[in-house]
Amino acid sequence: MFHFFQKYLFQNNFSSPIEECLNQGECKVLDIGCGPGTWLLDLANKYENSFFYGIDNISVHPNEIIKPGNLNFVKADIFDGLPFHDNEFDFVHQGSAYPASIKTDQWNFVISEMIRVTKPGGYIEFFERGGDFKGTGPVLRRIQEAHISSCLEKGVDMKMPSKLENIIKSNQNTPIVYKDEKFYVSGPNGGKVGMVFQDIYIGFHSNKIVMENLSPILGISYEEYKTLITKDLIEELKHTSPEYSLIRFWAKKINNN
Ligand SMILES: C[S@@+](CC[C@H](N)C(=O)[O-])C[C@H]1O[C@@H](n2cnc3c(N)ncnc32)[C@H](O)[C@@H]1O
Repeated sequence: MFHFFQKYLFQNNFSSPIEECLNQGECKVLDIGCGPGTWLLDLANKYENSFFYGIDNISVHPNEIIKPGNLNFVKADIFDGLPFHDNEFDFVHQGSAYPASIKTDQWNFVISEMIRVTKPGGYIEFFERGGDFKGTGPVLRRIQEAHISSCLEKGVDMKMPSKLENIIKSNQNTPIVYKDEKFYVSGPNGGKVGMVFQDIYIGFHSNKIVMENLSPILGISYEEYKTLITKDLIEELKHTSPEYSLIRFWAKKINNN
């Protein structure tokens, strides 16, 4: 659902200028931390003559569906280095990775690996959630603060996306970084987009793993946590307008040093 939400906000699946390459065919695309592969499936079905690869350290992509012949899933850990040759891909993409436990000091390595496997003239692109929260009420702020603490305990900084731009720029092969940020309001005051995001947010936070993670940090029982997410938060969203954003960063690999 989150894939289609971000696609709707940006009105496309990527911001890098690679549409021509994809249409011509033989364009090679890699998605890092591809999860269920929804982004890849969407693209592989549209650009039948190009080739798509997804890597993830857990096989969460669906095995029960017949996947397009131009799509391959590879099980690998990004921290072992990408299992591909230098200069292999026209486009290397990473979507929504900070919950994927990339620690602050690991980003340099992940980005340098993405650049290494990209062809000169090809693009790398990141899609992340923005880190600033405005207009939040006390219930949402409490949940967000618990989420930030839970990530920090694992060394994952939720404000990292805003720093990605400088890490990418600091690599001599990708000196210019482009950025696009889309803002929206969660809940009924954000219209249809806001209601869809409210469903995604509540769905994510109702997940057993998230509940087991956040309720001890909040100092409440599972029952109280469920009430907080499914009643108190929904009530608060009726009269608040919390602003969120999604950000894309993309850069062209200019040479092969
Ligand atoms: C938040 S999900 C994002 C999934 C997908 N990109 C999307 O936008 O829907 C993060 C993904 O990164 C994967 N991941 C986490 N650590 C990883 C690692 N060390 N190597 C490869 N993938 C990893 C997780 O298994 C998960 O599927």
